[in-house]
Amino acid sequence: MDKKIKIAIIGVGGISGCHIDNYKKNPDVELYAFCDIDEAKLKMKGQMHGITRLYTDVDTMLAELPEIDAVSVCTWNSQHAPCTIKALDAGKDVICEKPMSINVEDAMKMKEAAERNGKILMLGFVRRYGRDCRIMKDLEKEGDFGDIYYTKARYIRRRGNPGGWFANKEMSGGGCLIDLGVHVIDYVRYVMGCPKPISVYGATFDKLGNKGAAEGEWQASSSGGGICNVEDLAVAIVRFDNGAVLNIETSFELNGESPTDNSIQIFGTKSGAILQDGIKIYSDIGGHMINTTLCEPSSADFSEMFTSEINHFVDCVKNQKQPISTAEDGVLLMKILMGIYESAKTGHEVILD
Ligand SMILES: NC(=O)c1ccc[n+]([C@@H]2O[C@H](COP(=O)([O-])OP(=O)(O)OC[C@H]3O[C@@H](n4cnc5c(N)ncnc54)[C@H](O)[C@@H]3O)[C@@H](O)[C@H]2O)c1
Repeated sequence: MDKKIKIAIIGVGGISGCHIDNYKKNPDVELYAFCDIDEAKLKMKGQMHGITRLYTDVDTMLAELPEIDAVSVCTWNSQHAPCTIKALDAGKDVICEKPMSINVEDAMKMKEAAERNGKILMLGFVRRYGRDCRIMKDLEKEGDFGDIYYTKARYIRRRGNPGGWFANKEMSGGGCLIDLGVHVIDYVRYVMGCPKPISVYGATFDKLGNKGAAEGEWQASSSGGGICNVEDLAVAIVRFDNGAVLNIETSFELNGESPTDNSIQIFGTKSGAILQDGIKIYSDIGGHMINTTLCEPSSADFSEMFTSEINHFVDCVKNQKQPISTAEDGVLLMKILMGIYESAKTGHEVILD
């Protein structure tokens, strides 16, 4: 594709800024149209970014602008499936924000729509595109971990329910697990070489409600009707078909010491590693235990990972190649998340198909 790729954004709220800013920096892209059901926000964002093709309805935009090549879906979660399927059926390549949807059935319909139309559906698992994840993946590919058999991921906020639609289950599909847990479950599964999840056992709690996000935490830019009916803590064990296990803890609200407590730990037969303000590697040299830090930046840099994610999507559209984070990955993640919610409800392990 020699001409510039015409991109439309569906949902121009908070996260769309990370897509828009990076499209604007990419020489292969023409940022072409915006769509949002909130007309005031749409006009404001149009003015801010010099976009004049503004639509409050996805169908109208897709019908009136057949020249659009690709779309970023940045709506709240319950609208990912309808907007993505419409864009794919209109012949557009799509990047959809995480989580893929609010249930497994919708996720499978999205994947089928991509296959039916022969179009790209990339999942916005942005953590895969960070330099920290690239380093972890290099270690895995080179065999430096050996056999990875245990992993731990924590994504804890002490006070960090974003409120608005995030707290309304009908719009979000759930709380901290589907919003934060999804990031680190996908990260660990990717570093492990994308094994198939076979069972989950989990518990969720809604003990603290929404105490309001602390300063600096993400806040919704759209209302959810003042409802809070999502979990504030989720803990789970995920078992994969290669025998490896992931232990996950994630919260919107938790009465622990730190405002945030985020880490990813990988344990292999040759070495282990932790990502927490940079990567540290635990191994043996000459029969002695050794801890290694990297002589290059290795912490998670959010701005850089969004640049890398959006550039990857543009490259995939331009060269019509499959992305690193696929619809298949999105479906498997939805199976894990929904399995954990089911397990929390029944108190039993859930076997995934
Ligand atoms: N990758 C990340 O790190 C990250 C961070 C934050 C949010 N997100 C994801 O991004 C998505 C949006 O989150 P946000 O914080 O930007 O929310 P937001 O409320 O700020 O923005 C969502 C926008 O979508 C619009 N919208 C909803 N339904 C629509 C429809 N059918 N057609 C057109 N517009 C529609 C809303 O009016 C709103 O402006 C969510 O899926 C969230 O999980 C990802």
